Amino acid sequence: MVRTLGILGGGQLGRMTALAAARLGLPTHIFCQHGHEPAAQVTPHVTLGSFDDEKKLAEFAAAVDVITLEWENVPLQALALLATHKPVYPAPSVLAITQDRVAEKTFAQTHGMGTAPFAACHTLDDVHKALAALGTPAILKTNRMGYDGKGQVVIQNIHEAEKAWNAIAQQSAILEGLVDFACEISVIIARDGAGKVACYPPVHNRHTGGILCETLAPAMLSAGLEAEARQMAETLAHALNLHGLLAVEMFVLKQPAPDGKNIVMNEMAPRPHNSGHWTMDAAATSQFEQLVRAVCGLPLGSTQLLHKARMINVLGDDARTAGQYLSNPQARLHLYGKDEIKPGRKMGHVTFLEET
Ligand SMILES: Nc1ncnc2c1ncn2[C@@H]1O[C@H](COP(=O)(O)OP(=O)(O)O)[C@@H](O)[C@H]1O
Ligand SMILES: [Mg+2]
Repeated sequence: MVRTLGILGGGQLGRMTALAAARLGLPTHIFCQHGHEPAAQVTPHVTLGSFDDEKKLAEFAAAVDVITLEWENVPLQALALLATHKPVYPAPSVLAITQDRVAEKTFAQTHGMGTAPFAACHTLDDVHKALAALGTPAILKTNRMGYDGKGQVVIQNIHEAEKAWNAIAQQSAILEGLVDFACEISVIIARDGAGKVACYPPVHNRHTGGILCETLAPAMLSAGLEAEARQMAETLAHALNLHGLLAVEMFVLKQPAPDGKNIVMNEMAPRPHNSGHWTMDAAATSQFEQLVRAVCGLPLGSTQLLHKARMINVLGDDARTAGQYLSNPQARLHLYGKDEIKPGRKMGHVTFLEET
């Protein structure tokens, strides 16, 4: 039986997972760098350390029964070490794929899905060759560690190649052709230790400047598109042998691809996802509780949508005026307790409920 759930990472996703675990009577123990991080504020059990500190990692592992994560870039070495002490869900093998954009898209293609056309680039010469093959406009992204549109540059014409390569600090990269999508959607799916899955309805996401700004739940898709999206998430979860939660970002194409498919995979995150925050207020089980259930051997909860919902992020300075939402009876305000406001930083979110 799981008595204490260990969570790697101290951000808002860890905070909301810890709060969901607490509701089920389960204590959580956070591994993060600083005691003031959002997740460390909501549980008394915290190990402060960095992911290369083997002693601290072992201390943390000794204090918990099972380990999950809220940050998908935990170094594989740290995960491998932790896995020698306690079960780590999702497994390090899942993270090895999802931390690497080239590996992730290759994996999706191997399992029958479309992606943006792409090429791996390790040198400026590779970028030139990839541009010749894929054409412009294209996007150059660091292969690892990117998030919220960081570490990516749009290349409008071949003369911008060198500037773009320098802008991403000449790191190993992926060059992607631009997908002319009708809309962006995502699907969150949980899979338990026995291989049983529970999938949330697809939602519609809007990004500005690479950062998610709004999620509409459910996405208003045709039955055919909805089935295609759910099937992709399910195929990926099984193929990864996932134990935990997986968010799959997808592009709905304007025109079907030559293979007849209407949706391509953009990226995967094996953890709770910003586009699933609406589930806290508008689904039978929140994505955070679902993760806790999946990794602690509890039955998966219902993923039924109870209300139509619209979620917006509270970014940067908007946090100063977020109190306005408290007087709106349709609004549910969540603030993450971050110590410092920075432009574009995710400070909280608001879910607006509508009757279905
Ligand atoms: N190949 C592409 N074609 C069209 N739009 C893209 C492409 N890649 C990224 N984008 C846009 O940029 C956003 C962020 O890119 P993404 O690959 O999801 O990286 P991140 O890890 O920063 O979320 C996407 O949600 C989408 O709006
Ligand atoms: Mg993304």
